[in-house]
Formats: sequence, structure tokens, C-alpha cells
Amino acid sequence: MVEGSGKRTRPNILVTGTPGTGKTTLSSSLAEATQLRHINVGDLVKEKNLHDGWDDELDCFVLNEDLVCDELEDVMEEGGNIVDYHGCDFFPERWFDCVVVLQTGNTVLYDRLSRRGYNEAKLSNNVECEIFQVLLEEAKESYPEDRVVAMKSDTIEDISRNIATLTDWVRNWSSPAQS
Ligand SMILES: Nc1ncnc2c1ncn2[C@@H]1O[C@H](COP(=O)(O)OP(=O)(O)OP(=O)(O)O)[C@@H](O)[C@H]1O
Ligand SMILES: [Mg+2]
Repeated sequence: MVEGSGKRTRPNILVTGTPGTGKTTLSSSLAEATQLRHINVGDLVKEKNLHDGWDDELDCFVLNEDLVCDELEDVMEEGGNIVDYHGCDFFPERWFDCVVVLQTGNTVLYDRLSRRGYNEAKLSNNVECEIFQVLLEEAKESYPEDRVVAMKSDTIEDISRNIATLTDWVRNWSSPAQS
């Protein structure tokens, strides 16, 4: 039994991966298909000021891990959430029943991120992060291996397949405490 999951009647899913791999695209469609709640952590951090200011070098907010975890604790305990973030090592392990790591081929990812207008440093940082499978390693280190699943996210067909797989998984999920 996964400790702490006993009270949930619906599962919590973490969708992680390098920026641009399609976390928000997948999470919002999956939320629609399953009626789970999509939590985009980046947006939440901005909306509720859960950060310690702006990092000029990395060109993003410095997320405050404690504030984010405090903010999410109650809804996570309730269950039924899809959490969308490009990091996964600071969330409590007990929160998630499934950790999805999206993966995109280097050239596809490079093109996606250049379309966003990322500068050269940010582009190569992110593509390197993908090449070295940083998020997959982080997920495997932070969660039991049988809860971590890598999914390819190069094409629209990949998105549809991933949504179908995960929708089935959600339908068949029952709380470990009840089985
Ligand atoms: N599997 C896919 N096939 C084709 N295009 C995709 C796929 N996944 C995402 N995209 C496109 O790539 C872009 C980035 O996707 P999205 O914003 O969902 O990524 P993200 O992982 O949420 O990024 P970030 O970490 O920066 O929030 C979007 O324009 C989206 O339409
Ligand atoms: Mg996103």
C-alpha cells in the first residue's frame, strides 16, 4: 500500500518533463477526458506569488518549494489532480499514484523551443536536459520505479495515444487501501 493514499478516491498524476515536451497540452486534454483537476504549477506560482523573485540568468521565477507544497497539500490529499511541472523532486512521494515523464526527440524539441523565441543559451540548456534524460532520472530517484512511466511526445498521434492510455489507467485505478 502506498502510504498516505488511503483516503483518495481518485488518483493524483504528476506530468513532468523538459520544458516544451508537451506537459500542459497533455494535462489539459487529460483533465477534460477524466474530469481530474489540472494544476499548472508554473501558473500557480505566478498567481499566488509562491516564489522568491525573478532569476535573470535562468529567465524564470525562483519557485519556493515550501510555499508550493503548503499550497497544494489539501487538494493533493483529496486526490483527483493532474500536476504539471518541469521538476519533480521536491513534492512528497506519497502524493502521486503515477508519474508521467514526457520525452521528445532533440531536433523536434529544438524546433518547438525556437518557435517560442528562446535564446541560444536557454535552447541548449533545455535540449541538453532532454538528451541527458534529467527528468526521467529525477523521477526514478524520487518515486518508486513502478509508478514512473516515460512517454514519447513527438507528434500529435503520440498525444492521442498517451491520453488514451492514461484515461484507461484513471478509469481502472482504485485506491490501494481499498483493493
Ligand atoms: N506530442 C506533440 N506533438 C506535437 N506538438 C506538440 C506535442 N506536445 C506539445 N506540442 C506543442 O509544443 C508546444 C509546447 O507544448 P506545451 O506548452 O504543452 O509544453 P510544456 O511541457 O507544458 O512546456 P513548459 O514546461 O514550458 O510549460 C506547444 O506549441 C504544443 O502545441
Ligand atoms: Mg507548460
